[in-house]
Amino acid sequence: MQILAISGSLRAASINTALLRATMIVAPSSITVSLYAGLRSLPPFDPDVEMASIDDPSLMPASVAAFGVALRAADAVIFSTPEYAHGLPGVLKNALDWVVGSGEFVGKRVAIFNASAYGTFAHASLLETLTVMSARVVADAAATCTTLHRSMTDMEIVADVLVAHSLTRALDMLAASVRAG
Ligand SMILES: Cc1cc2nc3c(=O)[nH]c(=O)nc-3n(C[C@H](O)[C@H](O)[C@H](O)COP(=O)(O)O)c2cc1C
Repeated sequence: MQILAISGSLRAASINTALLRATMIVAPSSITVSLYAGLRSLPPFDPDVEMASIDDPSLMPASVAAFGVALRAADAVIFSTPEYAHGLPGVLKNALDWVVGSGEFVGKRVAIFNASAYGTFAHASLLETLTVMSARVVADAAATCTTLHRSMTDMEIVADVLVAHSLTRALDMLAASVRAG
């Protein structure tokens, strides 16, 4: 099973990205978790470019096309994102805007992880956006990790037995939802 993990943070030492890297490490051999690394390369969403590329696919920016390929190849997607000013980071919302029309999230199983006890506005906003895009958000596959510190590494996260357990449990629930069809 292929799972694409998307962090909403571009910060090199991001706790959200570290949490997703930890998820890659604890994943069982039956699940491959890949970290999407293209958020920074996506251009600002432009509906004119999107419309023009329907007639001429060569007009679609390569990074956007690659994002679509990565999403279509994934059986499920995991998000972990910080909150900026009570909303989603612009780079993450921008990425989602590019795939509203192309429909990669329609019916896609999605899990939302939280690397802190905060960020409830951003998570509610992400849930709303994914729901209107017809994604199937798996509530049982959510992982809220309230004990992490902002400077933790992926290996430090994995070493926390309770957090590691909640990540493997979330992966199991997400995989079970995919298998249930
Ligand atoms: C511009 C900016 C705005 C922020 N706004 C919020 C906020 O509204 N609510 C919140 O809980 N944290 C807010 N934060 C804190 C970040 O969510 C927090 O630092 C988070 O750990 C960053 O995630 P990262 O380590 O994955 O980059 C803000 C941080 C920045 C830089």
